[in-house]
Amino acid sequence: MDNRAIGVFDSGLGGLTAVKELISLMPKENIVYFGDTGRVPYGTRSSETIKKYAAQDIRFLQELDIKAIVVACGTVSTVALPLIKNNYDIPIVGVVEPSVRCALKATRNKKIGIIATPATIASHSYEDLIHDICPDAQTFSKACPLFVPVIEDGRFNRGDKIAASLVEEYLAPLKAQEIDTLILGCTHYPLLTEIISDYLGDGVSLINSGRAVAESIHGLLTEKELLCDNNDGLHRYYLSDSGLNFKKFASMFMGREISESVKQIDIERY
Ligand code: DGL
Repeated sequence: MDNRAIGVFDSGLGGLTAVKELISLMPKENIVYFGDTGRVPYGTRSSETIKKYAAQDIRFLQELDIKAIVVACGTVSTVALPLIKNNYDIPIVGVVEPSVRCALKATRNKKIGIIATPATIASHSYEDLIHDICPDAQTFSKACPLFVPVIEDGRFNRGDKIAASLVEEYLAPLKAQEIDTLILGCTHYPLLTEIISDYLGDGVSLINSGRAVAESIHGLLTEKELLCDNNDGLHRYYLSDSGLNFKKFASMFMGREISESVKQIDIERY
């Protein structure tokens, strides 16, 4: 047993979609979340900058005496994690491998779509791992730069015309290839699940990277006997900007109100 917290970080508040999955799978775990709201978005930045930001985010979390780190951010998981992961002796789990394993389990025709930020798609991390594990799989990827701002504007519910037309525009080429599995490779995209499902149809499995990484860290902590035996998990939230819109975005990404307070830190010190 290990009652230290699981550290989770993201470029902003979208990573709370992964926290939601972690809490539903492991309600007893203590969680400390860092959202780099002062420097979001990462998904349109260079790999050098993303690497530097990720290293600072990890250094901050390490100060908080945690037992493992979950990289909820798709962009950090794909662009920076493969390069910096071995610099640390704490277990660090990103979203790529768990999502790829779920996708390969779900697919029947081995045609897998990937949607994510421009930086993630340019990294080819998902395709590379899919082909390493399953050389005859076919992958079709698409950067969807407008999804994040549209979702953050609250436009993700069924019936929203802007969200529906963007989904159609971005996903038409993947639908034409008859993918049967789609990796939602960005923190925000699970909010579009209904609209994407309506467009692609029930036959296409959608892989929620937050759910996949939650299952993966649960497996890892179980195997290493590092699960927590608290009754109620404590959840702490840190941001690099003021928490002005925290409650609004937190309830959007977690699907419920958050009562805990939030602290601001200076990430440039790390
Ligand atoms: N959290 C980012 C990701 O999952 C999306 C927002 C951003 O571009 O920073 O890739």
